[in-house]
Amino acid sequence: MKKMLTLLLSAGLAATATQAISGPKEDLEKFRTHFEQRFPGIQLDDFGNGPYALDANKRLQWEDMEEFPPYDVYVDKGREIWETPFKNGKSFASCFGKDASKVRPKYPHWDKAAGKVVTLEGDINKCLKANGEKPFGWKKGKIAHLGAYLGYEARGKKLNVVIPNDPKALQAYEEGKRFFYAKRGQLNVACADCHVYYPGQRVRGQLLSTALGQPTHFPVFRAKWAKKGKGDGMGTLHRRYGGCNKQVRARPFKAQSKEYRNLEFFHTYMSNGLEINAPGYRE
Ligand code: HEC
Repeated sequence: MKKMLTLLLSAGLAATATQAISGPKEDLEKFRTHFEQRFPGIQLDDFGNGPYALDANKRLQWEDMEEFPPYDVYVDKGREIWETPFKNGKSFASCFGKDASKVRPKYPHWDKAAGKVVTLEGDINKCLKANGEKPFGWKKGKIAHLGAYLGYEARGKKLNVVIPNDPKALQAYEEGKRFFYAKRGQLNVACADCHVYYPGQRVRGQLLSTALGQPTHFPVFRAKWAKKGKGDGMGTLHRRYGGCNKQVRARPFKAQSKEYRNLEFFHTYMSNGLEINAPGYRE
């Protein structure tokens, strides 16, 4: 009985202790420290280069690729989309402001009035609808081209997601965090299993990247997405989330669903302070 009480008590105490000290700020510190200790030679911003930060050979191949990167033409297409007026004569600048370099660093963010996490893609389509234009698809094509341009213009600026001290915003953050650490799918694996505990290891020939730095370079050009029938290679962060859910044989959520928006809120916040280096090239 005494033993049992001690057990219960220590469990209870442990729970209160973590609740008292754990908020977004403490989460971020622990998260970053984990990767810094695991990969002591890597500079903070280099985590944004994913697998290429972890393997010297892959890095060389990637640096070659970066000399004439396949995403360049999509950055140009994105610029054209940004500059082309809508039928009503206005353009994206009427929604986002004239300075294209200032757009991407504002996302994702908490919208207090709407009570939800707002993403860049969400606001792109909101702008189109408000101007009587047809919205873009969510995962690839024009939305990714415009995202590539806005990411390119914002290169060098730091991710800086703000989690306001508002219970609903904190709840969205907590939901994103829970999603990230929850085991799912027939394989019963969490995002964290692959991208926090096993980065640097290989899964079906692919080197697992660190979760730290993953959101810095989206949208990406992915060689796999440039294969016949899959599109032109460009894809958004939510397209990738869906792919990673499918990998563990879990049903993916819809791009821009509440689940993925909250995940993006948590996931991007964890990389605060890293430089935006979008668009990226990936295998
Ligand atoms: C079974 C292991 C596995 C799980 C679980 C998994 N992923 Fe992945 N993920 C991969 C592999 C493999 C890649 C491609 C190599 C890389 O960049 O890590 C990848 C790539 C990514 C990328 C692209 C990284 C980049 O730099 O372009 C993101 C973002 C990502 N995963 C997020 C997630 C999220 C969020 C979850 C949970 C919903 C998740 N992954 C679950 C294996 C996994």
